Formats: sequence, C-alpha cells, structure tokens
Amino acid sequence: MRFLRPRGLEDGGRGIAAALANGILDCKCAGGGSLPRRTSRSIATSRRAVLLPRFGGPEVLQLRDNVEVPDLKQNEVLVRARAVSINPLDTRMRSGYGRSIFEPLLPIILGRDISGEVAAVGASVRSLTVGQEVFGALHPTAVRGTYTDYAILLEDELTQKPKSITHEEASAIPFAALTAWRALKTTARISEGQRVLVIGGGGAVGFAAIQLAVANGCQVVTTCGSQSVDRCLAGGAEQAVDYTAEDIELAIKGKFDAVLDTIGGPETERIGINFLRRGGHYMTLQGEAASLADRYGLAVGLPAATAILLKKQFQYRYSHGIEYFWTFMRADSEGLVEIRRLSEAGRFHIPVDKTFPITQVREAHEAKERKQIPGKVVLVVD
Ligand SMILES: NC(=O)c1ccc[n+]([C@@H]2O[C@H](COP(=O)([O-])OP(=O)(O)OC[C@H]3O[C@@H](n4cnc5c(N)ncnc54)[C@H](OP(=O)(O)O)[C@@H]3O)[C@@H](O)[C@H]2O)c1
Repeated sequence: MRFLRPRGLEDGGRGIAAALANGILDCKCAGGGSLPRRTSRSIATSRRAVLLPRFGGPEVLQLRDNVEVPDLKQNEVLVRARAVSINPLDTRMRSGYGRSIFEPLLPIILGRDISGEVAAVGASVRSLTVGQEVFGALHPTAVRGTYTDYAILLEDELTQKPKSITHEEASAIPFAALTAWRALKTTARISEGQRVLVIGGGGAVGFAAIQLAVANGCQVVTTCGSQSVDRCLAGGAEQAVDYTAEDIELAIKGKFDAVLDTIGGPETERIGINFLRRGGHYMTLQGEAASLADRYGLAVGLPAATAILLKKQFQYRYSHGIEYFWTFMRADSEGLVEIRRLSEAGRFHIPVDKTFPITQVREAHEAKERKQIPGKVVLVVD
C-alpha cells in the first residue's frame, strides 16, 4: 500500500503538490474547504483489491496489491473500506452474468456494498467530509467495485453510517435495502394500511422489504423457508408461510396491493399476480435484460428484453388489471438516509451470518455459492 501524506501548510505545500501531481486534482480535505488545510488524512494512490481477471469459479478471484486508485471526479468519494458484503450479484458476475457489459472491461473489481470512512472527496461533494463513517452501495452495472481497501463511489451512493451498528452490520444493508426501497417506495408507492406480499422474505432483499413495508404502516405477509419464519415474524410480518411445508395459495388469504417477488420463477410469478387486487403492483427481481443481453449481445438483447417486458405489462394489465415491473436496484440518497434513520431507531437490520477476512474471499464465495451459509456473508477489510 502506498500513501501520500499531505501535511497541509506544514511542509510548504509539497504534500499538496504531490497530491495534485498524483491526479487527485479535485479533492477537498477534512472540513469541506476547497483547498487543503491542516490535516492528518492520507490519500491512497495504490490499494489492495480483489480482481476478476476472467469469469469462472471462486478460484479466479485474485487479491492483488498495488492496484491503482483512479482519479477522483468532482462528485466522487474515496472510501477506506472496513467491511463489504457479498451479494448474489457478486457471485453471478464472477460466473459471467453481465458479461455483455463487463467482459470488455476485465479485469474488474467485484462488490457493490460498503461500509467505511471517507478518505477524500471530490470538489463538488457537499454532504460528506473526510473522516466520516459512511455506508452505501454501487449501482448494479457500475464498473468500479467495493472489494478493495479504497473504493470510489458517487456522493449520492453514500450516507453516514448508522451510529448504533458495526461496519460489518452496516455493509450488509445498502444494496438489498435500496432494491426493496426501489420496488416498494419508488415503483409501488406503498402507503399506510395497504397489504404487501413478499415472496422470499428469508433473503436479504425480502427481509428488507418486510421491514420497510411495516415501517410504512403496511400489513405484510411473506413466504420463506422454515428456518426464516421466526425472523420474518420478528421483522413485523403478520404471517410467514413456510414454502417448504405449506401450500402458499391455500395458506394466504385475501388480496394485496403490492407483491415483491424476490424469486421470480414462473410459479411465483403466477401466484404473485393472482394475489393482487386490480390496480396492484407486481415486482420481480429477476428481470431478463442482462441475461438476454449476455445471450444475444447488447444490440439485440436489450430491445428483445424491452419487447418482452412491454408484452407482459400489456397482457397482465388486460387479463388482471395489474401493473407488472422488473425491479433493479438504484442508488437513492433519500432512501438511504431513511434506511439509516430506521436502523438507528432499531427498526431495520439485515442479520450477518458469517464474516471472512478479505484475504479469504475465495472461501467466502465458495461457502455462499454452495449455500453452506444461508444468510449474509461479509468480508472484513483490515
Ligand atoms: N434486480 C436487482 O437489482 C436485484 C437486486 C438484489 C437482488 N437481486 C436478486 O434477488 C434475489 C434475492 O437476493 P437476496 O440478496 O435477497 O438473496 P439472498 O439473501 O441470498 O436470499 C435468497 C433467499 O431466497 C429464499 N428462497 C429461495 N427459494 C424460495 C422460494 N421458493 N420461496 C421463498 N423464498 C425462497 C431463501 O430463503 P429461506 O432461507 O427462507 O429459504 C434464500 O435465503 C437474488 O436472485 C438476487 O440476484 C436482484
């Protein structure tokens, strides 16, 4: 790891000159001023990172030193990572999902979620300052990853970490929570008194959705595995149906205003849509845009995906009178602030099942993929 240690005015500005010469031209220092002041911060010019040089199993992951830190743009933030969580998207990307976007860019750094401290900020960043503890997540198609000790995110992708939880706990939250937020708040615009069905409440997104819907005054029913029933009920679901032991179509009564389907198979889609009242919203996390683009290339795959989506939207509007959506995670600073507020109030959490040091990233991916660990796995960055 190589560091620049700008010493503000103490060294006659040589530290500042070095920082500028190393490409961090737009940086502000602690306190948010536009010129460096007396500060003890360090600016990393190289870092450790988990690189994906080619698609494949966990063995293709490489933890390398001396990976360059790119120039920080005006609206970007350099975060000293303390913990990064593993999402299903990470293991799928490692195996080649999204290759139509990522293959020409290899090697890339994996990872979406992060919790850590602000190490430097771009010139236009106003809401964050050096030294603050932050958490957040990159957009699903972002080329820059978080499996590194110094990650770059946009200002909008970060907010202050909830004070009451650890970096490990915080890193498990943003990607899953913002996916649930996107579906329930942005798309379905849930409101007090509505009924929400979460298919797959045992997973991170599903559990986040239960808690967000409850916090918005909704009545929530969920389907989950037997080991997740108690947790879903503790999270506020009024009913948690064990999909391994019960017929969910018989066990669940009444109609719903919104269905979030985290599984998104043909059977859960059929069931979810039949449970909606007219005007309700069905949202699946398994949109086909990336898989069709991977199979046929971006030029053919994306228009094909759009055509499939429009056809389904038209069909379901006509046959059931409902709105059909593919939900994709999006950064949402307002959502992230609200999620932090709920976390600090003790009303929102994502349990972490196991942590690994980042040096054991291959073992962590393997354990997650073999379903040896059902819940969230977090990589600790020392
Ligand atoms: N489109 C997007 O932007 C986006 C964003 C985030 C995630 N995703 C996708 O959404 C899915 C969920 O993500 P996640 O982070 O929540 O994953 P996760 O934490 O690994 O959760 C997966 C959970 O699904 C549950 N499950 C499996 N089959 C089920 C079924 N038939 N009925 C009900 N529950 C079932 C299991 O819970 P039990 O232990 O209770 O059995 C499992 O723990 C993944 O496929 C992921 O790739 C998409």
